[in-house]
Amino acid sequence: MTTAASAAAAQAQTADNGGERVIRVALAERSYDIRIGRGLLDGLGGAVARLAPGANVAIITDENVASETHGHLARALSSLQALARPTPAPIVLKPGEVTKNWRNIEYVSESLLAAKIERGDIVVALGGGVIGDLAGFAAAIVRRGVRFVQVPTSLLAQVDSSVGGKTGINSPHGKNLIGAFYQPSLVLADTAVLDTLPVRELRAGYAEVAKYGLIDQPEFFAWCEQNWQGVYDGTDAREYAVATSCAAKAAVVARDETETGDRALLNLGHTFGHALERLTHYDSARLVHGEGVAIGMAQAFRFSARLGLCAPADADRVARHLAAAGLPVHPAQIPGGVGTVDEVLEAMAQDKKVSRGALTFILARGIGQSFIAKNVPRDDVRAFLEADMAGGPGV
Ligand SMILES: NC(=O)c1ccc[n+]([C@@H]2O[C@H](COP(=O)([O-])OP(=O)(O)OC[C@H]3O[C@@H](n4cnc5c(N)ncnc54)[C@H](O)[C@@H]3O)[C@@H](O)[C@H]2O)c1
Repeated sequence: MTTAASAAAAQAQTADNGGERVIRVALAERSYDIRIGRGLLDGLGGAVARLAPGANVAIITDENVASETHGHLARALSSLQALARPTPAPIVLKPGEVTKNWRNIEYVSESLLAAKIERGDIVVALGGGVIGDLAGFAAAIVRRGVRFVQVPTSLLAQVDSSVGGKTGINSPHGKNLIGAFYQPSLVLADTAVLDTLPVRELRAGYAEVAKYGLIDQPEFFAWCEQNWQGVYDGTDAREYAVATSCAAKAAVVARDETETGDRALLNLGHTFGHALERLTHYDSARLVHGEGVAIGMAQAFRFSARLGLCAPADADRVARHLAAAGLPVHPAQIPGGVGTVDEVLEAMAQDKKVSRGALTFILARGIGQSFIAKNVPRDDVRAFLEADMAGGPGV
């Protein structure tokens, strides 16, 4: 079954439950639901009580999500009052990509142990992808595995990082190089919490939404071109985009949980994007993950066009849409630049998709026709980067 066909199948299993959409990630005994809808955060306590009656619950979050102005942590804590037990003090981390480090893994793990969180208890990751990845990794290693619930609060986390069980942190050697596959027991995506997300972060998350169309759902990409503004504004388009993205990801993960095959398609734009993130030292002021992915996807299509794999018009269409949605599409748009072609190549060499030194890219034969290209000659990559980086965004 193609990814699009299985995404459609997963979509068909999507139950519409009083305005709430539920998507099942089918992984045998590790299966779980993704619940999507406005206001779900207020039901966190009830959801956890059903999942693990009598469990203790530890919340890990960041300072932005915890802020009184936004009120998300307060709502989560208030819903947990429904539980019989008092909730330990939330673990609140600094926001930003640099938080995904060894020091915080130690801090969070020790805090969970100090709070006497046991294997049958629940760790709640309340935040964007940084918190989800870090809290998930801590949950995976503390007592060799404590159950955890993802409560994604950024668009990126709702459509991508909270689903599929990739957890981890960054290393000075590269992005996400330390981690574990560890599935959550539930994903609770309250689309109303995105109302407080800074517009730049909304855009960054949107890059991952458009990605699903570019991988293998051309009709969804066309829908995105028409409806992206509704996703930002919080019309019904937002729930549709989150549910369609989650259904697509759930289908891929169910087939290939640990990325031995076509789960790698989800990395469209990431070989370039991760290198750019590394070269900007994970400095969110210059580049956030979703922006790196947007530039990376535009580059993947330009590279594909240069190799004669896809029509240049498709590469133009990709860049035009991402730019219209407010995303960067070229490294020159990163404040301070990213250095030389050699530095980009060197940064790419640390990608997880490198196998015995050969580079793997996700390339495309057109919109919705992405494929995994192994052993891409380094000279081709160099020639592309030299031409591409000498140019500009062109949109
Ligand atoms: N595990 C996976 O499969 C996977 C997939 C994609 C990305 N990722 C990872 O996800 C991370 C990026 O995630 P992200 O873009 O969510 O970054 P993030 O967690 O840094 O969140 C972005 C910013 O938005 C703030 N924020 C989050 N929710 C908010 C809300 N509701 N209101 C106001 N502010 C809010 C955060 O504090 C942060 O400043 C990267 O580390 C990336 O590697 C993981």
